[in-house]
Amino acid sequence: MQIRAIIFDLDGVLTDTAHYHFQAWQALAHDLSIPFTEQDNEQLKGVDRLGSLRWILQKVGRTLSEAEETRLMQQKNEHYLKLIEHMGTKDLFPGVQSLFTELKQLNIKIGLASASKNAGMVVERLGIAAQFDFIADANYVKNSKPDPEVFLLAAKGLGVTPEYCIGVEDAVAGIEAINRAGMRAIGIGDKELLSDALIVYPSIDALNLADLQAL
Ligand code: G6P
Ligand code: MG
Repeated sequence: MQIRAIIFDLDGVLTDTAHYHFQAWQALAHDLSIPFTEQDNEQLKGVDRLGSLRWILQKVGRTLSEAEETRLMQQKNEHYLKLIEHMGTKDLFPGVQSLFTELKQLNIKIGLASASKNAGMVVERLGIAAQFDFIADANYVKNSKPDPEVFLLAAKGLGVTPEYCIGVEDAVAGIEAINRAGMRAIGIGDKELLSDALIVYPSIDALNLADLQAL
């Protein structure tokens, strides 16, 4: 295929924030006396803040008032922000900078499609914000992954139609969003889990542009 843009998820693809999201959700679930395992967390990767909270609550058939939901989301986010306080350029996954440099040389646009409202701040901390040609995140979309909205917004912002875009994701919901957007999906992580991706690499470091061009 001719690749004109690659649109990256953030958490778990470019840096290890996925682990901090897990820790913060697990602490909140613990406070609510709801069991929450790493396996549960797989379902939440790529899902936005409210969707994640509701998913945890539904495990025990609980629903809460909007005010209570807001309070709990704030609690989780404050914890998450504390966990990522120390983050900086050292936390960018190996291989990302060289990949971005290669994409720039090839004139392939670089986009971000994140379900996180903290995405802008995190890419600033990672020192890569200025390298994105367009950033789409949860502040600008209504529907969370697996809805394709955030990927479609990124493609639109980049001025590239979906057929020329590749999406890169570590989440089951994210791979579905990319596929529904009409883009080609590349997974980062577990092959079995991300079985709807065309290629799955164990980490972004292993991503090979020639493989993608051969798709
Ligand atoms: C992501 C992560 C999720 C996280 C969600 C919302 O894409 O994969 O684990 O819960 O964004 O993040 P936020 O920073 O807005 O709470
Ligand atoms: Mg992710």
